[in-house]
Amino acid sequence: MTVKPFFYDITLRDANQALATPWNKEQKEVVFKQLLKLGVQGIEVGFPAASEMDFESCRNLAELANKLGSQVVISALARAKDSDIKKAWQAVKVAPKPRIHVFLAMSPLSMKHVLQMEPMAVRTQAVEAVAFAKSLVGEKGNIEFSPEHFGDCVENFDFVLESLKQIVEAGATTINLPNTVERYRPMIYVDMVRKVAEALPKNITVSVHCHNDLGMATAATVESYFAGASQMECALNGLGERSGNTNMYEVAVALHNSGVEMDLNLGEIYETAILTSKWAKVPIYAKAPLIGIEVVSHRSGIHQDGASKTKNMKKGAYRPIDYSLIGRHENDVLTFTSQSGKTAVYEILNHNGYPVELDEATELQPILKEISEREGELPDSRILEVFREKCCNLNGRVIFHTIDVIPGENRFVFKFHKDGVHCEESISAEGPIEAALLLSRKIGLPVELNSYNQSVVSDADKLWAGRALSEISLSVNGKTVIGRGVSSDTLVANMRAVFGGINKLYG
Ligand code: KIV
Ligand code: ZN
Repeated sequence: MTVKPFFYDITLRDANQALATPWNKEQKEVVFKQLLKLGVQGIEVGFPAASEMDFESCRNLAELANKLGSQVVISALARAKDSDIKKAWQAVKVAPKPRIHVFLAMSPLSMKHVLQMEPMAVRTQAVEAVAFAKSLVGEKGNIEFSPEHFGDCVENFDFVLESLKQIVEAGATTINLPNTVERYRPMIYVDMVRKVAEALPKNITVSVHCHNDLGMATAATVESYFAGASQMECALNGLGERSGNTNMYEVAVALHNSGVEMDLNLGEIYETAILTSKWAKVPIYAKAPLIGIEVVSHRSGIHQDGASKTKNMKKGAYRPIDYSLIGRHENDVLTFTSQSGKTAVYEILNHNGYPVELDEATELQPILKEISEREGELPDSRILEVFREKCCNLNGRVIFHTIDVIPGENRFVFKFHKDGVHCEESISAEGPIEAALLLSRKIGLPVELNSYNQSVVSDADKLWAGRALSEISLSVNGKTVIGRGVSSDTLVANMRAVFGGINKLYG
C-alpha cells in the first residue's frame, strides 16, 4: 500500500451512542478540538436524526470547522431514508468538507429478521438513498455507504458486491465495510475486504469499521490496510458499543511500527487517552495496550534485566515502542515484588539517589524478596528503609537518615551513617542545602554546589508522580556529578540529592 491511511474518527458517533450519558453540544466540542489536535483526517460528528441535541451538536461542529477553515472531513450518519439524509445534510453542509454516511444492513440475518425485507428491495433502497444523498451534496460534499453487518455477509457476498457496485454508480465514493459484530477469525473479514477493494474502481475509497467483540478489531483493521482499505474507522480509547470499536492508537502504532507513513500526531495519543477517559467516564483498564497504567511496568527479574540493559534504546527488550512516541514520559518502570531481581534493586536505589553497585543490589535482593513474599509489591520507601537498615555498614559511604530543623535557630541536626558508624551532627546554616554542604566538609567529604533544580515528577510517571524531584550538581577536584533525590517531602528530596551526589563523588 502506498496510500497513507485516512483516519476517520467515530468517537463522536459510534462511541457516543454507547455512552451511559451521551455528550451534549459543549462536551462534543471539547472532544472535537482534541481530535483536531490529534490530526485525524475525518470525523463522524454524530447521527443528526437521533435527537435534536445531536443535530445541534453536529451543526455546531460543522460551523466550527468552517470557522477554523479546517480541511477535516465532517461526516454525519443517516439511515437509508430521505428524512435522515436531509437532516444529516442540514447539519453538516456548512463544513468545508461535508459528508453524509448512509447505511443499510445487508447480511442475510439482518435483512430477513431485522429489516424484514427481500434482498432486492434492500439493494434498491440503498441505491436510491445514495442517489438522493448525492443529489443534495452535489460537488460540495461526498457520500459514504456502509452495508451494515458486512462481516456476516460470507454467504451472500456476491449479492453485496453487486449492490456496492450499483451504490458506487449512484454516487458513493467511500465504501465502508462494517464488521458490526466480530464473530469469526479476522482473516475471513480481511479476505472479503480484499475482494471488495479489487472489484471496485480504483478511485473509490475502501474503509473498514470493526467492532471488538472478540478483541481482534485492531488486527482486522491493520491487516485490512494491507489488503487494500485506506480509511480506518477507529475510536478514541476503543470506545463504542459493547466491547467497543477499533482502538485508534493501536492501529496507528501498529502501522507506524510497520513502516507506514501517516498524518497523525502520534505524540498527542497519551494525553488524548487520559482526557477521553475522563470525558467519557470510562476508565482505562490497567493492562490496556499502550495507555494502561501497568503496561510500562516490569516485575519479573528476567524482564527487568532486559529492560534495564535496553532502557536507553529506541527498541526495548520488553517494550513495543519508545513511549515518547505517543507522548508518554515513562518507558520501563521497575518495581519490586517477590519475582523481581537484583536489577530492580539497583535501578530503584540509584533512582532515589543512592548510587549503589550491582553487587550491593545483589546482596539486598534476597532480603527484599523475603519481605515481599509477606508484604507484596514493595514501594520505594520500603526498599530504602530496608537498604538503610541492612547496608549502613557499607564502608566509604554516607547514608542519610533524617534532618531535623530546629525552629528559630538556623540549626539543622543530621542523623546518618558514615563508614558503617551511626553519626549525629548539628550544623548552623541559612538553609538545609547549605547545612548539608557544611556537613560534607565537616565529615571530610567536601563538595561544592554548582546548580540546583527542583521540579515535580509528572503525572505520567506512575511510580513517582506528584513527588518532588531534586537535581543538584556538585563538584570536587574538577569532577562534577548530578545528585538526584525524589520524595513527597521537598526537604528529603533535597537531602537525598545532596547525599547521593556526595556518594557519587566519593563512593
Ligand atoms: O457497526 C456498524 O455497522 C455501524 C454502521 C452504522 C456503520 O456503526
Ligand atoms: Zn459501528
